[in-house]
Amino acid sequence: MKILVTGGAGYIGSHTVVELQKQGHQVVIVDNLSNSSADVIDNIVKISGVAPVFEKFDLTDQALTADFFKRHSNIDGIIHFAAFKAVGESVANPLMYYRNNIQSLINILEGMKVNKIPYLVFSSSCTVYGQPDELPVKETSPIKEAFSPYGFTKQVSEAIIRDSVVAYPGIKAIALRYFNPIGAHDSALIGELPLGVPNNLLPFITQTAIGIRQELNVFGSDYNTPDGTAVRDYIHVVDLAQAHVIAVDRMISRKSKAPMEVFNLGTGNGLTVLEVINSFERVSGVKLNYRLVERRPGDVEKVWADTAYANEELGWKAKKAVDEMTLSAWKWELALADRKK
Ligand code: UFG
Repeated sequence: MKILVTGGAGYIGSHTVVELQKQGHQVVIVDNLSNSSADVIDNIVKISGVAPVFEKFDLTDQALTADFFKRHSNIDGIIHFAAFKAVGESVANPLMYYRNNIQSLINILEGMKVNKIPYLVFSSSCTVYGQPDELPVKETSPIKEAFSPYGFTKQVSEAIIRDSVVAYPGIKAIALRYFNPIGAHDSALIGELPLGVPNNLLPFITQTAIGIRQELNVFGSDYNTPDGTAVRDYIHVVDLAQAHVIAVDRMISRKSKAPMEVFNLGTGNGLTVLEVINSFERVSGVKLNYRLVERRPGDVEKVWADTAYANEELGWKAKKAVDEMTLSAWKWELALADRKK
């Protein structure tokens, strides 16, 4: 099938393109490269031996997006990753987030409606749950007030898709709520490429270990958790990527139980920040320079997924354990350093 992957040069997008091609899907990538690089496309080709079609433009541009769909009206399905994703940046510049994340989704849905493209997989986030009252968090758990404009864009996007599948019965959708994706492809050819100082834990750990950063701050050590540091459900990016292929196939083979379905994508295991650091030190043999500091504003204390629904309905289960995740992130950082030499 011919699948459009928006944001296909990005972190989760690039891993998903590789998995789609492995399963024989034909991929068209649209990416404006605002948070990635054209080298990623070359590396996808090195891994899979197949060149995806690549078009560089901004999906917030209505005319360009409409023109793209006119030229690619035979697309069978879309996986929509392209979006801004930094929580702190969204607080500082909410309008940029609303314009980018919402406008691109609207343009894509219009393209689907006009060109009768039936299937959409949407990148959502566990951020839609805020700090859940009950853990593990289920897909049916209440959507709490968003902690950031970024989180709000994910809530609004899900609502826009839900309204669209009702109004335009030709469109079916699956929203995948990611927990914390980490790690990199086994080949160390694709991985997370943070611009500037990383916000997320794993890139900060690997950059500290390799000497790009002096010290890792562990945000908060007084949480109500086993060791006082915050708990998240870390999932290997390749496990996550594979779930997207399954979601596309589910819609194409008409197994969906509703016009819009929602699935949690996590491992079901909560890990503290210190547990992740311990895993990293164990697999890399590098002692990390870290310090316990104040909580980071906007962080929730703990969240991990109830994965039963995704496991049963998608027939999918995250396979990789934390040591594989941290080791692959380390190999990726080492490979990046090698390439810069
Ligand atoms: N952390 C540190 N030091 C750092 C970076 C992170 O201690 O330098 C801690 C955070 O405080 C948090 C944990 O590591 O306790 C994970 O933090 P990340 O920034 O890696 O991930 P978040 O859980 O904050 O954010 C992720 C995604 C968001 C998404 C959110 C939903 O990056 O896009 O999950 O909960 F919105």
